[in-house]
Amino acid sequence: MRKYIVAGNWKMNGTLADTQKLASEVVNMHKDEVNNGVEVVMIPPYIGITEVQRLAKGSEVKVGSQNCHKEDSGAYTGEISAPILASYGVDYVIIGHSERREYQSEDNTLLAQKVGQAHRHHLTPIYCVGETLEEREENRHFEVIEQQISEGLFHLSTDNIQRTVIAYEPVWAIGTGKTASKDEAQEIHSLIRDLIARRYSQHIADEISILYGGSVKPNNAAELFSMPDIDGGLIGGASLNSRDFIDICKAVK
Ligand code: PGA
Repeated sequence: MRKYIVAGNWKMNGTLADTQKLASEVVNMHKDEVNNGVEVVMIPPYIGITEVQRLAKGSEVKVGSQNCHKEDSGAYTGEISAPILASYGVDYVIIGHSERREYQSEDNTLLAQKVGQAHRHHLTPIYCVGETLEEREENRHFEVIEQQISEGLFHLSTDNIQRTVIAYEPVWAIGTGKTASKDEAQEIHSLIRDLIARRYSQHIADEISILYGGSVKPNNAAELFSMPDIDGGLIGGASLNSRDFIDICKAVK
């Protein structure tokens, strides 16, 4: 069954006090207000993970990590590995966010390894794809997405592809206040589903959750989530405000 998911990517935000306030507000509001079956995920910086888990205990809210390394362990100062995350009971891991593709020079080959690593340790990867403004203006967005999907995911078994979440995040819409229109987003979401169907099967493609990310706010979420191939969102800025984040969760059909 295709799952509807709203995940809040806190990025590099969240002092201890901020984390406690935001996580407890989200957990409480979630309990009182969110009853549409959407899976809600909070993704704080690594150091906040256990605190968010502590506050989310007993609720249905899941917790994720913003990254993982391709190796299990070793001399990689400042990094975090999938087995470490798994041992802490983390549910999801974002892989290939455009900010990591850009600032950490992560490419599809490395990201394919990280996705495999997440699966080996039973974490659900949220694999991000998206074109830059330049790529869209040159009309290369379809090609870029196809390459990110095929190089990043097509090594996966049929079992593992079904346990992978994909997020389409046009780089030009992230943190800019500029959202893809619902039709622009739907066009890419349906392309992604089509690529999965061609490589695996229509049945598998129909089961996969494809999230939209890029300036999703309470006032545009319902419209985006009404599209047939948009199965929720990956939320940056608006996930730092509990009211906005919960309103976005409630906008899922
Ligand atoms: P934004 O970020 O909602 O602030 O645009 C989305 C993301 O980067 O996941």
